[in-house]
Amino acid sequence: MGKIVAGISTSHVPAVGHAVDAGKQQEPYWAPMFEGYEFSKQWVKDNPADVDIIVYNDHASYFGMEIMPTFAMGIADSYAICDEGYGRRPIPDVEGAPELSTHIAASLILDDFDMTILNVLEVDHGLTVPMSLMFGTPEKWPTKVIPLPVNVVMYPQPSGERCLSLGKAIKRAVESFDDDVKVRIWGTGGMSHQIQGARAGLINLPWDKQFMDDLVNQPEVLQYKPHLEYMIEAGSEGVELIMWLIMRGALGDKVNEVYRFNHVPASNTSVGHLILTPKED
Ligand code: DHB
Ligand code: FE
Repeated sequence: MGKIVAGISTSHVPAVGHAVDAGKQQEPYWAPMFEGYEFSKQWVKDNPADVDIIVYNDHASYFGMEIMPTFAMGIADSYAICDEGYGRRPIPDVEGAPELSTHIAASLILDDFDMTILNVLEVDHGLTVPMSLMFGTPEKWPTKVIPLPVNVVMYPQPSGERCLSLGKAIKRAVESFDDDVKVRIWGTGGMSHQIQGARAGLINLPWDKQFMDDLVNQPEVLQYKPHLEYMIEAGSEGVELIMWLIMRGALGDKVNEVYRFNHVPASNTSVGHLILTPKED
């Protein structure tokens, strides 16, 4: 039987990817932020998994105005790298987990989640920056990945309720897989940030902290939070945080908070990061 062993959430700021690629981690601006991930890098080494499901959003790098799936799942053998902004990062391609991802995609669709199936996909900073933060700069990534892109960049985005339920369906899907695979699930993006318009640079740390507290202890109160509240309180890009609800839904009712980190700012973003494990009772 498959098992979800941990949840990881983290911001995915593109400038962080550039800082890694340019070797700037020790520079005064970046050092305090990268130090916050030292615990996590060690923790993922000490608590390995077979597969990581990475919930992230594409930033019109691979998808675009022509096609924008609400929920999608990669079922390929591997994923090439792409990006907007700084361009394609010089990092290894990401290895897929075709058997498990095909099983999960089928299970989700039969469980009434109409996933778009991706036999080909290139992944942008939404997925690659979290991998750099957790794994550093290896020649080959130490894990297999199932990318799960969510549309948070174009109206209409999925509701928080739908995201939390999708997480619960992912747990059912993983647990109905025959082999004993250990799976971690990641929610990326957020926290408060706005990168455009009159309020560019907006950060709301008290709101971010409350979001983390609720995500850990009472995620059900977050599921009806309207998109407009994310935008008003956490900036126009703060709505990326709905992806953390998918991660949380997959962990079951109660969780242990293994680690929490906040850092302000990285580029325009309030960086937030959690490691959670399911609480068995
Ligand atoms: C920034 C953050 C993001 O999540 C993103 O997708 C793009 C830019 C930023 O803070 O610069
Ligand atoms: Fe983003």
